[in-house]
Amino acid sequence: GIIGFIFIIGAYLIGSISSAVLISRLFHLPDPRHSGSENPGATNVYRLGGRFPAVLVLLLDILKGVIPVWGGYFAGLPPIILGGVAIAVCFGHMFPIFFHFEGGKGVATAFGAVLPIGLDLGGLLIVTWLIVLLVTGYSSAAALLTVLLAPLFTWLIKPEYTLPVSMLACLIILRHHSNILRLWNQTESKIVNRREKK
Ligand code: G3P
Repeated sequence: GIIGFIFIIGAYLIGSISSAVLISRLFHLPDPRHSGSENPGATNVYRLGGRFPAVLVLLLDILKGVIPVWGGYFAGLPPIILGGVAIAVCFGHMFPIFFHFEGGKGVATAFGAVLPIGLDLGGLLIVTWLIVLLVTGYSSAAALLTVLLAPLFTWLIKPEYTLPVSMLACLIILRHHSNILRLWNQTESKIVNRREKK
């Protein structure tokens, strides 16, 4: 109904608030859309400005995902519309109306959007991401492998959400096309245990 529609539009607008650009301005860092990997996300803010602003971006981007989905859940929206809200907030993050449609890859925001499904799912995703990050050093590889496993984890925990989580996973993988190319060419920059400078 109309409530679901309002939540979906609201989610797109919330997603469109680029934490990475705003936090970078606040800390007088280079615009993450045009420096480093040219991606407005926590990983690139970490590259450009270090741990503190990156953690702020990570938390704000996660919060952007949590708020509309959680709100929709308490408003009594059915699972199919909640899935639409989750996709809308990530779509806003990827193609933000307030920032020339130059958005991020949706990893943190999608994590926030699926967190209301359950802390067990959230825990599995964090552990997977951390293991791949620590083993490979690549933030992008950690995101890609986690996103590939997310539909399976969801199917095991709350099968009714497998479809929207799979759709989010596809969107996020598509947004990583340049990272996939760099991983393939071994030119991707590591964010953990860097030995050579990139
Ligand atoms: O979440 C984004 C991450 O997977 C890759 O970021 O800056 O290395 O393209 P970046």
